Amino acid sequence: MTSPHTAARSTLSMARWDEDRFLRMRREVLGAWPTGAQVDLDEACAFHRGLPPEQNTAWRLRKARADGRTLVQPRAGVADIEQHIALLQRLRQAGADLLPTTIDSYTRECRYADAERGLAQSREAGRSLLNGLPAVNYGVAECRRIAKAVDAPLFARTASPDCRLTLDILYASGYTSCTAGPVVFSLGYAKDFPLAKAIESWQYSYRMMGAMHERGVTVSVEHYLPISTLVPQSTSMACVILDSLIAAAQGVRDISLGIGQQCHLAQDAAALRAYPALARHYLAAMGFGDVTLSTVMSQWMGGFPPDEGQAFGVICMAALAGYLGGVTYMISKSPHEAIGVPTPEANMHGLTASKMVLRMLADQQLAPIAEIAAEQAIVEAETRAIVDRALELGEGDAALGAVRAIEAGVIDVPFSPHRMNANRALPARDWRGAVRLAQFGGVPIPKEIREHHEDQLARRTAGRPRREPWELLLADVNAIADGVLLPD
Ligand code: 5AD
Repeated sequence: MTSPHTAARSTLSMARWDEDRFLRMRREVLGAWPTGAQVDLDEACAFHRGLPPEQNTAWRLRKARADGRTLVQPRAGVADIEQHIALLQRLRQAGADLLPTTIDSYTRECRYADAERGLAQSREAGRSLLNGLPAVNYGVAECRRIAKAVDAPLFARTASPDCRLTLDILYASGYTSCTAGPVVFSLGYAKDFPLAKAIESWQYSYRMMGAMHERGVTVSVEHYLPISTLVPQSTSMACVILDSLIAAAQGVRDISLGIGQQCHLAQDAAALRAYPALARHYLAAMGFGDVTLSTVMSQWMGGFPPDEGQAFGVICMAALAGYLGGVTYMISKSPHEAIGVPTPEANMHGLTASKMVLRMLADQQLAPIAEIAAEQAIVEAETRAIVDRALELGEGDAALGAVRAIEAGVIDVPFSPHRMNANRALPARDWRGAVRLAQFGGVPIPKEIREHHEDQLARRTAGRPRREPWELLLADVNAIADGVLLPD
């Protein structure tokens, strides 16, 4: 019997799709909801060409890299499109450089009829009962009103193994980037969605973006593993690099490489510093040397302290880590994070606090910090070991390699909800708060680095009453919400 996890496997490869395969899937995708009929690739590219270059993400990121400045993007999305436009305009006035549109959960699951009901109920209630904008229900003509009402790049923030119709509609509406990736969204957010099917769905969206690039409109993607609490940065980065190879193979030419803040300054900065050269190495080796790379950091994605002052502490520390890592842009959190979706004011304050720190740091040109260099050497060696092993398992193919590496536990994401995840790697913070692995499972960490992990973890537990690994883990997971980096 073939399980759903193996069904799509026989045809799986990173090879670029031919036109026929793309068009066949396109008919099915655009037919899933009436607004799909509004999408036309040539007409969409003409619409993009009519927008000012400052509204293109790739253009804005290139300028930020050239100026050596870090951009900030909040998250935001409400059910009503008028209110959404007003919200984006307020965030822009408060300094947002890239404008988000968070998509609601029904739409993320392709449940457009439920989103339609949520929209109607939100109108009746006079407030948003959806946790984002149901872009598919609005369709191209309506979503283009957003592009015409703002003067900064628009970014679709939807996170699931299948975002095909949502991205067809938003990229046709003037959006120029999105959160993306079959590996990162399967391991980060899905339980039962077969990995091979997620890769196919994303290959379709990547091919759509490649087709736009071939028509002279460069659009971007952001790859980031949305579970980052105590997930070793090397594991996140390996997932992102594999997704980036899969994307590049379909013609995507502008990619942002993401990590989540873990609040260990040297490790966060080191991961960001290591990223471009690592990804460049694998992209170039596969013939994708013309892909443009940026880096991005999501501010702390774990539990936040309920106290707003403490929450600002986490937010400001993220800005510092991003600065030290030379990050291109950052996704900000708000002081309401512990409670839920923030008010517009709280959202703006997370943004303005981040921008304040970045502005003050912008010209300081700090001397190199030894701990960052040390962590950078470690994260580079670990990431290379994981990606090399994955590509070896995939016989040189990043799509096959990703699936086989996950099956083998080479990629093993602590706390992943996905059925295929091995759950054998166990992380913990060491005596200085750096994230290490207490149990390696199948993750191929080189021997000398394993010994370093063991040594640094031993320094934390030495002379203390013995605790079960899971007890330590639980304390570590809750620490920042409780107001500290290291419990005890
Ligand atoms: N508006 C603002 N922030 C949102 N988040 C999720 N949905 C929205 C929204 N509609 C934020 C959550 C969490 C992160 C993953 O996204 O607060 O921090």
